[in-house]
This record gives sequence, structure tokens and C-alpha cells, in this order.
Amino acid sequence: MTATHERPNRFGADTPWFMRGNFSPIDDEATIDSLPVIGSMPEGLSGAYLRNGFNPAGRVPWHWFFGAGMVHGFEIADGRVSYRNRYVHTPYVDNDLDMMEGIADLRLSPANTHVIEHAGRILALEEAHLPWQLDRELNTVGCFDFDGRLATPMTAHPKVCPTTGELMFFGYQFMNEPWLTYHRVDAAGNLVQTEQIEIPNPIMMHDFAITEHYSLFFDLPIVFSIDNGGFRFRREEGGRIGVMPRAGTNADVRWFEVEPCTVFHSFNAYEQDDEIVIQVCRASSIMEGGMSDLGDQSTPWQWNLDLSTGRSSETHLDDHHGDFPRIDDRRIGQPARFGYMAGLRPGASPDFTAEIHKYDLRSGAVETHSFGDEAVHVFEPVFAPAGPDAGEDEGWIICLSHDDRSDVTTLNVLEAQDFTADPVARVELPRRVPFGAHGSWLPDA
Ligand SMILES: [Fe+2]
Repeated sequence: MTATHERPNRFGADTPWFMRGNFSPIDDEATIDSLPVIGSMPEGLSGAYLRNGFNPAGRVPWHWFFGAGMVHGFEIADGRVSYRNRYVHTPYVDNDLDMMEGIADLRLSPANTHVIEHAGRILALEEAHLPWQLDRELNTVGCFDFDGRLATPMTAHPKVCPTTGELMFFGYQFMNEPWLTYHRVDAAGNLVQTEQIEIPNPIMMHDFAITEHYSLFFDLPIVFSIDNGGFRFRREEGGRIGVMPRAGTNADVRWFEVEPCTVFHSFNAYEQDDEIVIQVCRASSIMEGGMSDLGDQSTPWQWNLDLSTGRSSETHLDDHHGDFPRIDDRRIGQPARFGYMAGLRPGASPDFTAEIHKYDLRSGAVETHSFGDEAVHVFEPVFAPAGPDAGEDEGWIICLSHDDRSDVTTLNVLEAQDFTADPVARVELPRRVPFGAHGSWLPDA
């Protein structure tokens, strides 16, 4: 961080970067019924914006990724906003369990990376364990294993098909085989398919993608080995994208060689003629020196996989560094035109800029919205449609920003189609929201 006004905190001066400034956790769970809105909250915006993130409850974890999950929720309706934050009440919060104690128990998730809704269930997700279910008031219901059918970890980045309502996801494991397992959940929330997928190495696989007919696996070489001290980027292991029919098996996977690289997040993927198009935030390498080495910062790239020739090509889409790419979730797996991304500076720790970027993924055009100078940092932008029948990009961008000088976190609402204009609504929160991971817009029915 380039945080110039580091706050003193309860852990003292020799604490790691993720316990300083606005990375440091907050202590309490609050409910604030009505917050003053600067500007005008759109009448058509009705639902909840939930955001999950790392918020260590007791002891200092050894990595940012290992803090206990805390969900911040904003209920928006009738032009008004209320807020609440709740820990995901896992044993890390209530029993001060050490993260290493939970490494072999699928139920012991910090549940800290994403929060999604599917089939009426709100799930707090991390990638090495089972999900944890929350209710709409963000109370913790408990660990959720799809009625006993899920026996592998679940990624924090499952994909809901907007056409069929199915939820596709994978789980990776690095201590024991299978290294990769695929799962498909029907629109009613029943886990209906589980397939072991063969990959050559135990790797860290953070995200994946779907298209109308396929599920896609990113076999990129952040490889786990005890001899190498954990996860490490190993270019010599190569990179491959697996393309499998959504209801297929390991025998149906076609693997496409790509340049070895690292991808934490994808914007989207879709089918176009005989090709699969995948748009991602891609870095040439990361973790070459181990898990604390964040290496290059990613930029937007596109892979084209030619289903007729089996060949791949890649295109650099833009020079802005960033991550946390999102699209209109109603376009997942389809030819989406618009993508949104948070700006990040290259550096040794995540350093959010004051900018978010909007891409026309068809023409390559980019628009940038800046929330201020270097003391301001903006988090993941999430799209909320103007209504169930609204067109793509017809709606709002919701994102949090933080100003190090005032230590104030602001909820911002932008008109997506007027991306560079001032926010239509801002809510300065009476308490800060630490930098975190991912969130979702849950529209009211
Ligand atoms: Fe992620």
C-alpha cells in the first residue's frame, strides 16, 4: 500500500502489511438502519450489495488470505440505504481456531473470499473448504455441503448460467488427489454431477469460466510442492485451458496449450463461431518467489481457442493494471460486451488505485472513472441492472472506496452508461470497510 496515513492498530508497529491501514480488521458487528445519501439513490435500485473479505478475529494470520470472513451488507430500496456487517461465524471467529488447524478439515473454512446467491441460498465462499451459508440478515446458518453430496473444496468463483440457472464450479486440492474435481448444481440447488478431472500437478486454481455449452479449467502453473516451500510459479510446467461440455466427463476435456502465465480472475468467456473466447486479467508470472511474492500486476488479455484446429492465440487488450474484473452477471457465458475492473498498482502487496475501468470488450475502448488522488483506493466494481429486463450495461456500478486521509469508506453508485460522470449517489459510512475480496448484487425479486 502507498497508505500515507497508517493508523495505529491493536497489533503494534511490527505487523505485516495486511494488518495495517485499511487492510487492518475492524472489531465489531454493527447494524445501521438508515444512512444519509449524498445525491440521489436511484429508485430502481432495489436489493442488497454484499461484500466478503478478510477480517482476522483474533490472532494475526500468516497471510492476508487467511483472515476470518466478514460480510458487509448494504440493503438499498426506495432511495434509502441501510448497512450491517457480520462475521461468518466459523470456528476461527468463535473459537479463535488457528488457520493451520483447519487445513485438512473441509468444514473449517474461513469463508472469506466471495459471497453469492444461488437457488435462494446465500453462500460465503473460500477455495480450500466447503461453503458456509448465511441468511439475508447475514446471520450464519452453518457449513453447507449440498446435503452431503459435496466432498471436495468449492472454489470462491462458481458460475451461475443465466439461461439454465445451473451453478457450475470446481474444487482443487493440493495435499491429496484428485487435484481437481468438477461439480454441477441444478437450478433448484441440487448437486447433480461430480467428475474428477485429471491435471498433471497440484496447483492453485482460483477462477474458471463457462460458456453456453462448456466449462473451462485454467491449468496454469502455480504448483504446490513441499520441497519448494509451498506454492510457486513454475513456467516449465506450461499452461493449458481445458474445455469440457458442461455435463461432460474427464474423457471429454480438450486441452489447449497457452503461454504459461497467471490468471486470478476472468471477466467472461463465450462461444463465437468455432472459437471459445476468454477474457481474463493475466500476469506473466506471480509467486515466482513463493506465496508472498505477488509479482507482476495483471492486465486484461484475451485467449481465443480454435475448436477446429485445437490451437490457441492470445491478445493483450489493454495496458491498465488491474484485477477484480466483472461483467453484467446476466451475461456470464454469453458474448458480453462490457467489462469493469478495479485498478491496481504493481507492487509487493495489493495496492488499489483510485480508478475503475470500463471496457468495451468488442471494440477495445476503455473509459476510466477516478475517485480521487493517490490517497483514495477503490475496490471491486459490481454491476446492478436497472431491472430484470434491462439491457446489458443498463444499470449501475456499485463500489466502495476508501480515503486514507479521512479514513472514511464511501459506497458509490455510478450510472454504468455514464461511467465517467460523478456518482449519482454516495454514502459516507460512519465506519470503515477494510479492503477485501468479492461481492454480489442480490436484486429484490
Ligand atoms: Fe477471487
